Amino acid sequence: MSASITLLNAHKSRVHEALLATLHDRQHVTPNTLWQAMHYALLAGGKRIRPALMIECYLACGGRDLAAIMPAASSIECMHTYSLIHDDLPAMDNDDLRRGQPTCHKKFDEATAILAADALQALAFELVTTLPTTDSTKLSLIQSLAIASGAQGMVGGQMLDIESESHTIESILDVERIHLHKTGALLHYCCHAGALLARADRVQTAACSRYGKIIGLLFQVADDILDTTHGSATLGKSSGKDAAQNKATYVSILGVKEAKIMAQEMYEQALLACDDLGDNGTVLKQLAHYILTRNH
Ligand code: IPE
Ligand code: IPE
Ligand code: MG
Ligand code: MG
Ligand code: MG
Repeated sequence: MSASITLLNAHKSRVHEALLATLHDRQHVTPNTLWQAMHYALLAGGKRIRPALMIECYLACGGRDLAAIMPAASSIECMHTYSLIHDDLPAMDNDDLRRGQPTCHKKFDEATAILAADALQALAFELVTTLPTTDSTKLSLIQSLAIASGAQGMVGGQMLDIESESHTIESILDVERIHLHKTGALLHYCCHAGALLARADRVQTAACSRYGKIIGLLFQVADDILDTTHGSATLGKSSGKDAAQNKATYVSILGVKEAKIMAQEMYEQALLACDDLGDNGTVLKQLAHYILTRNH
């Protein structure tokens, strides 16, 4: 098993435990069906790549206390899972399969799925307020998370993505804009948050920010490629959907071969950003390699 997979698995189980505890603490104050749907979507699996990026940026910038960063790591998975539940709804990508299981609205119903996602989004902000850090750091994180997840970030990108289905997009710059918003903004936030919580210096902060921006784009380009090259059983979600729904992707504009070349170039840019972290950038380089070569 490669070093990055071992590492991801370690972060994954840590995040799983933290999410489980977070939900259990709130079970008695949450209507049962809503709680079941939140639990189902949040704990169904998932690679937990966003918490891994946050934790590894934190460590690369000299952070030491893993327990102290867990509320932020859990928070980003809540935000991400909310985005997936909405992304899968009939009004959006209309998907039946997510993380190897029926999508939340298939398992429950649409109203419950929408509400579970809404609740996870709110929980993401609540968790940031529980971080053992200064009020000004928490405020700064809440502001960054709001910007990354809202109209200027993920939600804005999802709007552009939906609109791309009925517009003819020919420019790769237009697709880059969609990807930087719908996916890149949250991954960039993770790297920024890890650096901020570690009290990173100026050089470290800039390196994590540069890394996060290019990794965010690379992550979605890899997702576009996987949608055409791998089957649903491997991906744990339905493949071939982008072409079927006329989505604007790196593959629809460039074809698989050229999209892979672009992904390789983005990976190399990510490595350059890590160089500014010296020896501390090694694990982030391994994560970038995983994101480039992952098969689901
Ligand atoms: C899927 O994200 C949605 C995209 C932004 C491409 P992930 O590939 O991180 O999904 P999980 O969390 O591992 O299921
Ligand atoms: C999803 O992009 C981005 C989100 C904000 C959830 P996709 O629609 O390509 O993600 P998958 O392929 O369904 O996971
Ligand atoms: Mg989508
Ligand atoms: Mg989708
Ligand atoms: Mg996709």
